[in-house]
This record gives sequence, structure tokens and C-alpha cells, in this order.
Amino acid sequence: MRQILEQNLNIKKIGWPDFFRCINEELVILEDNLRNKLPTKSSLLKEVISYIFNAGGKRLRPAICFLTAKGTGRITDKHIILSELTELIHTASLIHDDIIDSAKLRRKRETINSLWNDKISVITGDFLFAQASIRLGKLENTEIVKIYAKVLSDLCDGEIEQYSLLFNINISWEDYINKSTTKTASLFAACCKSAAILNEMDTASITMAHEYGNFLGIAFQIVDDILDFTGSSAELGKEAGSDLKQGIITAPALFALKSNDNRARQLKTIIENKFDESTEDFKKAVQLIHELGGCEKAKRLAMEYSEKSKETLYFIRDHEIKSFMLQATDFVLERIS
Ligand code: FPP
Ligand code: MG
Repeated sequence: MRQILEQNLNIKKIGWPDFFRCINEELVILEDNLRNKLPTKSSLLKEVISYIFNAGGKRLRPAICFLTAKGTGRITDKHIILSELTELIHTASLIHDDIIDSAKLRRKRETINSLWNDKISVITGDFLFAQASIRLGKLENTEIVKIYAKVLSDLCDGEIEQYSLLFNINISWEDYINKSTTKTASLFAACCKSAAILNEMDTASITMAHEYGNFLGIAFQIVDDILDFTGSSAELGKEAGSDLKQGIITAPALFALKSNDNRARQLKTIIENKFDESTEDFKKAVQLIHELGGCEKAKRLAMEYSEKSKETLYFIRDHEIKSFMLQATDFVLERIS
């Protein structure tokens, strides 16, 4: 499992997190199921799927799903199915996202759309969504079916909202947080909430499990948005600096745009003019965002959401599991420390 994580994370820099160790057994089963047990008749689909899951991934959503399960009772076979379907939805949405973004790199490898083409990518993404639905049925829990149906709807809603706000310099903080909630945090929240439901927890604990995942998911998206400005393509395993280039206004840009400094007006003009398709204008915009402290301010915002996520954890009574869940929250932020 460590090897899988090392493919995507600079473990040497941030250390091997204990919280992964305590759920290692379940993560290994999950990994085997994803890599080897997806039923496909088509050899092409088999090849594409093997390529995707062998690229690794942080498996952060399954990890917090297992931790919530452990903290609210025990990890059952249904929790393994739950974490699997969560990772399937996440992977499918990234495959579709890479088509939308015309992205060439993901997890340090060429994207499916780049190595094969958009058609293969759409179908593969759809296949993974369908496989997730099959697993959802296996849970035989109507409440969880409703939660995940809403997540799928939210993912599309968030993604299209992002599209409709491209190059919009008047985007509000509410817009940004709403979009991050639907596009990203909804899946984090759903897997934690559903893990608690499967363990038949009381309503208050189920609500807190949802909140834990929700705040952690928002912190995760803010960190991802900061890394787009500060990380290199080699470190991230995907193209760096691509959000702003596409006109996506994320937290660092938003802080810079909302600052009272005169340079914010210059930044607005450059973005509004879509960089006049000039590399120089784009570079100037990135420079202004850094000068106006966009990344530092966004980092503080990510920390606020990570604190909110930690504050929900009073519903976890087991001290050791609680400390692992606190660690999982810190882990998200360590990527920008
Ligand atoms: C990555 O975010 C993308 C998402 C979190 C969600 C994308 C959702 C869709 C494409 C809709 C899914 C479709 C169905 C049918 C449910 P990002 O672009 O911020 O991250 P990145 O930098 O890693 O690309
Ligand atoms: Mg993207």
C-alpha cells in the first residue's frame, strides 16, 4: 500500500502517515478489487481500467471512509463496498474532468484522453459510474442510495457552475465555497456519513460524520487550488498553473482580486481580457496573485476549514481512531506546508 501512495505523494517529504497503517488491511483489499476485480468483457476496457488503477492515487476518500467506520463501530464488508464505489465515482469524475480540461497529465501519467481519445474516456468514465451504481445496489440501503444519487447530481452541478463562472472576476466567496462543496466536498461528506449509517449510529453522529467529510473536502479543494499555483507539474503529477489559464478563479486568485491594493485592479483587467491570449499577461497575473498574498491567505482559509473538520470529531469516542482522523485532516494540509 505504501508503494501505491508513494506513486502520488511525496511521502519522503511528509512521512508515512500512521492513519494509513491502521487501515492498511482494508486498503489492500480495496486496491485488489479496483485493480483486478472489475468485470469487463472488452479487452480494451480492461486495458484502460488497468492503466487507470495502476497509476495509484491517494485513496484519501476510502481512507476517511474506513476511519469513520472504525471510529463508529467496525469496518464491515459493506464498508469495503462503500469505499470502493466512492473511489470509482471519484476516478470516473476525474476521467471526465480531464476531457473537459483537455488535460494531458494525471497522476504522473498521460491521461486517458491523451493516450487513447475522448470517446474512450467518456465510455470508461461511464463504465466506472455504472460499476459504482452496481455496488450501491449491493448495499441494500435506500438512504445511502439517495445520498449518492445527490452526490452525482452535485458533481455535475459544481462542474458546470465552474464552467459558467470562467473568467468572471465578480465571483463571490459564496460562489467559490458552493462550487467546492458540490464539486468536491460532497463525495467526502457522503462516504463519511454513509460509513456512520452502516454502523447504525444516532442521527447527531451521522450529521457530524457528514460535517467532518464536508469541511475536510473543502479544505482539500482549497489546498488543490493553492498547489496549482505553487507546485510544479513534476511534483503534482498533473499540469500546474492550468486553473487560471482556463479562467477558473480559485481561492488564491479570489483573495488577490478582492484585495484593496491598486494592483487588484490591474489583475482584474488582465483576467477580464482573458490574458489577451498572451503568455506575458498570464505570467503577470500569476505574479500579481503571489504579490497580493493570494496563496498565503488561501492557506489560512484551508487551515480554517481543516480546524472546522477537526471540531466535529467529538462523535468519535475511541481516542486512537480520533487521533488518526485528526492526522488525516493534517495530512491534507501537509501537502502545502
Ligand atoms: C476535479 O477537480 C474534478 C472534480 C472534483 C469533479 C468533476 C466532475 C465532473 C466532471 C462531473 C462528473 C460526471 C458525472 C456523471 C457524475 P479539479 O479540476 O479542481 O482537480 P484537478 O486539478 O485534479 O483536475
Ligand atoms: Mg481539473
